[in-house]
Amino acid sequence: MLDHLKANNRAWAARMVADDADFFSRLIRQQAPEYLWIGCSDSRVPANEIVGLDPGELFVHRNVANLAPPQDANYLSVLQFAVEVLQVKHIMVVEHYGCGGVAAAVDGARRGLVDHWLHPIREIRHEHAAELDAIADAPARLDRLCELNVVRQVRNVASDVFVQDAWARGRALSVHGWVYALADGLVNDLGVTIDGPDALARLR
Ligand code: CO
Repeated sequence: MLDHLKANNRAWAARMVADDADFFSRLIRQQAPEYLWIGCSDSRVPANEIVGLDPGELFVHRNVANLAPPQDANYLSVLQFAVEVLQVKHIMVVEHYGCGGVAAAVDGARRGLVDHWLHPIREIRHEHAAELDAIADAPARLDRLCELNVVRQVRNVASDVFVQDAWARGRALSVHGWVYALADGLVNDLGVTIDGPDALARLR
């Protein structure tokens, strides 16, 4: 079963060792990434590849529509480990334009459990109704909602107690909001980086 994937795996492992004989022995000794990536599960948004980082250089959490819900044990466990144990210096929340999760949140169809997961996006849609309703083009309206979702998730991460406590201890830690474009493979930095309590207050 899945023989082509196992063959790919053997070829990849051999290639890595051919390029760098110590690659796996170095990784097995320690994990010390500087970055936590919180991104969408979408198969077209491969975290490491987009930013050209090797295994060991990017700690990754992905879920549908890259949410950072303050009650989600999965996300919170990742966040605490990344901030307190790995001591990452940067956290990037990475949405992508045309996100199916964001579209599904607001199209009115019923899909089951995911409708509950996507509830925060409907809240964002309501809060920004005036701005969004003024955008006549439906894909452009969706893309703007994707951006607004990033800003909200950046705020969620930055206002979390793990991040707040890291800042209180004097740690350098920044939270960034990016949107990846499937159309050209480029990341758009929304310029909402938060590097401390003052910056968070300005984004509110
Ligand atoms: Co998505």
